[in-house]
Amino acid sequence: MVDLSSPLAQKNKFLIFGGGFSGNYFAKSIRQLGCIALASSRSKSNDPNSFVFNSEDNSIPEDSIFEGVTHILSCIPPDKNGNDPVLKKLKNKIKSLSLAWVGYLSTTGVYGNTYGDWVCEKDQPNPLQKRSQRRLNCEKEWINSDLPIQIFRLPGIYGPGRSTLEAIKTKKIKVIDKENQVFSRIHVGDIANAIIYLIQNQDNLDFYPIINIADDEPCSQIEVIRYGYQLLGLEMPKKILFEKAKKDLSPIAQSFWIENRRVSNKLLCEKLGYKLIYKNYKAGLKDCLIRIKS
Ligand SMILES: NC(=O)c1ccc[n+]([C@@H]2O[C@H](COP(=O)([O-])OP(=O)(O)OC[C@H]3O[C@@H](n4cnc5c(N)ncnc54)[C@H](OP(=O)(O)O)[C@@H]3O)[C@@H](O)[C@H]2O)c1
Repeated sequence: MVDLSSPLAQKNKFLIFGGGFSGNYFAKSIRQLGCIALASSRSKSNDPNSFVFNSEDNSIPEDSIFEGVTHILSCIPPDKNGNDPVLKKLKNKIKSLSLAWVGYLSTTGVYGNTYGDWVCEKDQPNPLQKRSQRRLNCEKEWINSDLPIQIFRLPGIYGPGRSTLEAIKTKKIKVIDKENQVFSRIHVGDIANAIIYLIQNQDNLDFYPIINIADDEPCSQIEVIRYGYQLLGLEMPKKILFEKAKKDLSPIAQSFWIENRRVSNKLLCEKLGYKLIYKNYKAGLKDCLIRIKS
């Protein structure tokens, strides 16, 4: 998964705020390179690589956690007031450190609806949803922080343990069809690997403060679901047209269907030379299946 032959100084210490799905995957990948990676959680755990951070109840990491930190990655969404949880509680502390790099996981929701057109980093963000407006504000807070920040805009994240396959198996899936509707997506392994690639090549590559990480093939949701059923050897139930299905969807689920865009990865994959591990959902889901079986 990670290029173990490429150097990354082992004295590096990474703090990952938000050791959820992507944060935890990144932490594991970076540890494979011999670096220290501590990841936060809102609740206490016995894992020596975990520390507690909760912006809502003032659980702030003790000073020893920050000792020797060289890199920070934040994977925490905006809080309910639209503030960035990490900057709100820890900005001064983080700014007092001598950091080589800071990363922030954002969303491609900041681009808003492009009615199926491609969108790239040069396009003006035009967030439709409240949560995306809050996200854009957090991006701005990070950009204005004077930290060596790189922002990664991500579409739908999936990977082992959190994919269409699990949704099918747990019967949490709705086979909805909406004409001309596409989504972009990214396998969690490519998020981790692309970020590591950029850090490994920091001195040789031009620096871009905002980078999309998306796969090569935006496509309809039903195409992915159909392939998921095929991989599991199950028959796909009859599809429901979106117009009919929408009344039974939660407001948040409905909101995902309002936006239609194709996210370009040309900056990352052409200009910066990153090679995707999972170029499309087929490659990505096959990987998820292997992990289910193993
Ligand atoms: N899921 C997607 O498809 C998707 C798509 C695009 C962008 N994103 C964004 O990319 C980032 C990573 O996504 P993900 O799906 O990997 O995230 P995730 O699994 O939901 O993990 C989020 C992490 O943030 C922590 N967190 C949440 N609120 C917090 C607060 N107020 N104080 C401290 N910690 C807090 C959670 O703590 P606990 O571990 O205690 O729960 C968790 O570790 C998130 O910002 C997400 O919004 C997600």
